[in-house]
Amino acid sequence: MSDRMKDKIIVITGAARGIGYSLAEVFGREGGKVIILDLFQEAVDNAVYQLKQKGYSADGYAVNITDSQVVETVITQIITNYERIDVLINNAGITKDNLILRMKEEEWDAVINVNLKGAFICTQKVSRYMLKQKSGSIINMASVIGVMGNAGQANYAASKGGLIALTKSCAKEFGSRQIRVNAVAPGFIQTEMTTHLPADVVAKYAEAIPLNKMGTPEDVANACLFLASKEAEYITGQTILVDGGLFM
Ligand code: NAI
Repeated sequence: MSDRMKDKIIVITGAARGIGYSLAEVFGREGGKVIILDLFQEAVDNAVYQLKQKGYSADGYAVNITDSQVVETVITQIITNYERIDVLINNAGITKDNLILRMKEEEWDAVINVNLKGAFICTQKVSRYMLKQKSGSIINMASVIGVMGNAGQANYAASKGGLIALTKSCAKEFGSRQIRVNAVAPGFIQTEMTTHLPADVVAKYAEAIPLNKMGTPEDVANACLFLASKEAEYITGQTILVDGGLFM
């Protein structure tokens, strides 16, 4: 165990599985207290249990990040328990892919609500305390799709592009209080979702990637760790692409 996040309180949304869980592992390994926010109590409890089994400090709450009142209650509870929040990672995200002509308004609204409005709500509730602390790091999980666009993912691309613009605006608004706001834009990452893809499909995707392979959740977590660390104390408003060179 290292100590780059020693004594830091780190809130991560959507951390019961996938990239978010990997973030919790990496920040936990670095000595941070990780607090998981995700939809279902059982999944949250399970993730917290797994992290504690590894010797990391962890806590968690069942929260739908689109419900601003619940988010407010939970963030207040976290402040009551831990007195501060040093890092917020807005990681929770969903997809509801469809071509524009077939896309239902509900599909559009659901993706924008979770990916973009959810990040706004969490940022608003947490930044209130970070502004008082005069310190903090906020990291938004965007996507290379938010930079490149993608057929069949207009809602997702718009949400992630919006997240990059939100990142820059927050960086400008909070900068004078030494709160840094950055984004990470992963490319094609190996998660449960992608492990079931046929080998020839994966090989085809890999061909378009200069590093010729998919990334891992830990690759994404390492970029977030850097952005949250002291080594990045003069970096704000930026988006780091973790995509093996797919977009350049
Ligand atoms: P995932 O689907 O495995 O995990 C997402 C987590 O967010 C789940 O635990 C889910 O329960 C939670 N969540 C969803 N809606 C929520 C809500 N309203 N409130 C609270 N929690 C909620 O996804 P994955 O692959 O780990 O992705 C994490 C983030 O990384 C997402 O924002 C995604 O858009 C982004 N990303 C993922 C890529 C990939 O290749 N897997 C590539 C680029 C970006």
